[in-house]
Amino acid sequence: MTTHSTRVVVGVYHLTKSFGKQFVLRDINLQVANGEFVFLVGHSGAGKSTLLRLIYMDDFPTSGQVVVGPYVSTRMQRSIIPQLRRRIGIIFQDFKLLEDRNVFENVALAMRINGTPMGEIKRQATDILTRVGLYHKRYEYPPALSGGEQQRVSIARAVANRPAVLLADEPTGNLDPVVTRSILDLLFKINAGGTAVLMATHDLDMVKSFGQRIIYLEDGRIKRDKEMIYVGDLRERIAESKVGREAEELGDHDLSDRQEE
Ligand SMILES: Nc1ncnc2c1ncn2[C@@H]1O[C@H](COP(=O)(O)OP(=O)(O)O)[C@@H](O)[C@H]1O
Ligand SMILES: [Mg+2]
Repeated sequence: MTTHSTRVVVGVYHLTKSFGKQFVLRDINLQVANGEFVFLVGHSGAGKSTLLRLIYMDDFPTSGQVVVGPYVSTRMQRSIIPQLRRRIGIIFQDFKLLEDRNVFENVALAMRINGTPMGEIKRQATDILTRVGLYHKRYEYPPALSGGEQQRVSIARAVANRPAVLLADEPTGNLDPVVTRSILDLLFKINAGGTAVLMATHDLDMVKSFGQRIIYLEDGRIKRDKEMIYVGDLRERIAESKVGREAEELGDHDLSDRQEE
């Protein structure tokens, strides 16, 4: 029996995943605490996306288990997957927005699915779109937005149900340094509000200067799990980081008002 304290939002225990004869993840053990920000770093093919997918329970381990709040992968039923998904937000490199729905509808849909009343949906969607700086674009459709704006919509959608943890799979993979900086800044802001974040990236250079916990994944194993050095609001660190300096060189001085493209 696995035990874990109530402060653990994601627990992964002796997890192994294979596809046929290929072992993609081997004996993975990790815990993400309430409110923590963790980078999951590894080369392409290391198993990052697979691990996130197993945490989201879009697929299941070959052996071992994933625990998210009260939900345990080995005891999961299809009927309770929607309840689990309310505790987890997820964003991807390619945004995965519904292109035939406007910004407001993309955010509202996540709440409508779990039966939130319309008045509450409007209030909450307004609040979250304001926080990501896109309320004025609520009637636009995703193809009319820049990459950075689309990612901000997908972040708004992912946190609309106030999840305990946000999973981010290479969220800045398609974005230039200035926009990357603004997206990291937004993720740090969401984290400062109490949401745990687990962000996968292949770009160690981008994240190492934050002094934050980094889990190194190599060939499906955890090579190293660097302890957290910096405790606090990560937004204070961004200017000193590599991505912060790159953005600065490109002449970015005002993140909130910047017009992307
Ligand atoms: N559904 C699948 N079927 C077979 N192999 C897969 C599947 N998903 C991932 N893999 C393999 O698992 C390995 C890890 O992939 P992935 O988790 O996408 O790595 P990363 O996100 O770190 O680049 C790769 O070799 C990939 O080909
Ligand atoms: Mg991947």
